[in-house]
Amino acid sequence: MVCPCDWPEPVVRVQSLSESGKPVIPERYIKPPTDRPSFISSPPDINIPIIDLAGLTNDREATLREISEACREWGFFQVINHGLSGELVDGVREIWREFFHESMEVKQKYANSPKTYEGYGSRLGLQKGAILDWSDYYFLHYLPSNLKDHNKWPATPSSLRETVEEYSKEIVRLGSVLLEVFSINLGLQKDYLQKSFGGEDVGACLRVNFYPKCPQPDLTLGLSSHSDPGGITFLLPDENVSGLQVRRGEQWITVKPARHAIIVNIGDQIQVLSNAIYKSVEHRVIVNPDKERVSLAYFFNPKSDLLIHPAPELVTPETPPLYPSMTFDEYRLFIRTRGPQGKSQVEALKSPR
Ligand code: OGA
Ligand code: NI
Repeated sequence: MVCPCDWPEPVVRVQSLSESGKPVIPERYIKPPTDRPSFISSPPDINIPIIDLAGLTNDREATLREISEACREWGFFQVINHGLSGELVDGVREIWREFFHESMEVKQKYANSPKTYEGYGSRLGLQKGAILDWSDYYFLHYLPSNLKDHNKWPATPSSLRETVEEYSKEIVRLGSVLLEVFSINLGLQKDYLQKSFGGEDVGACLRVNFYPKCPQPDLTLGLSSHSDPGGITFLLPDENVSGLQVRRGEQWITVKPARHAIIVNIGDQIQVLSNAIYKSVEHRVIVNPDKERVSLAYFFNPKSDLLIHPAPELVTPETPPLYPSMTFDEYRLFIRTRGPQGKSQVEALKSPR
């Protein structure tokens, strides 16, 4: 096996490729025809559900029902009135945009390695010669706090750390709100999922995605199709540039973000805990010829050494447990060893290996 201390080949920043102004993209970024954006067309007038979280206090039953339906039917929804101010969500996104517009010399100081992935990166996985995605990213740990290393957080823009801290705190709060809602909706004790996630000891990490302009957007993807391995993902999209597509049967639905909304999706760990009542749905990102795009994906995860398995209340003779017990640490290793598969990976747990 390759030593995970370094990348298997020199890292190329997609932003540099984009800024070179060349009209064609390198072959490494060209996807096979069936994976290209135009392969399955997307209907223009469908969107993932938009849910007003103010309803949790003033119209609770109806709002719980809306969330339940969105979890069962989409695995994806966007929330508004989520308690984070418009100023904070716009502010944190624009600070990261500023970071990506710093000089390459500044950004390279934070270049990451596959050991922890923390810092400025341009690829996932170690397979030499792999087809790559048209994006750069920045990856940070927030919780558990012993993993948080401020040395890995950019020192500029100067308000970045404070703003990211504030945003992170709010996302963790929102994570707990939704774990309670999901527990109730699944007919579990209201603290069941929070306890399964380790109570106060949840994990949380941030990936900021930067999708540079692309001269041949029909041939590539900003992020290949995948499901998120963790618990719940909170995605702050670029309001002015769409790009996220969610799988719905054989179609890809392009998400149209509502103003100041945060997109929520079910990760693989919730699929396991709910015994597949909730599904971790595949999604991907398309890119644009004349617009860059910035998004913040916050992964809210179970404590990494706890065993995750279907909730006993959801296991019956008619609905036997679909997944074995596994810690999130073991699951991540399982995924990293298999490498990117371009589809949901949790299904593979079902068949004995
Ligand atoms: C992710 C992700 C979507 C986006 O980072 O896992 O799915 O719109 N991002 O950037
Ligand atoms: Ni994702």
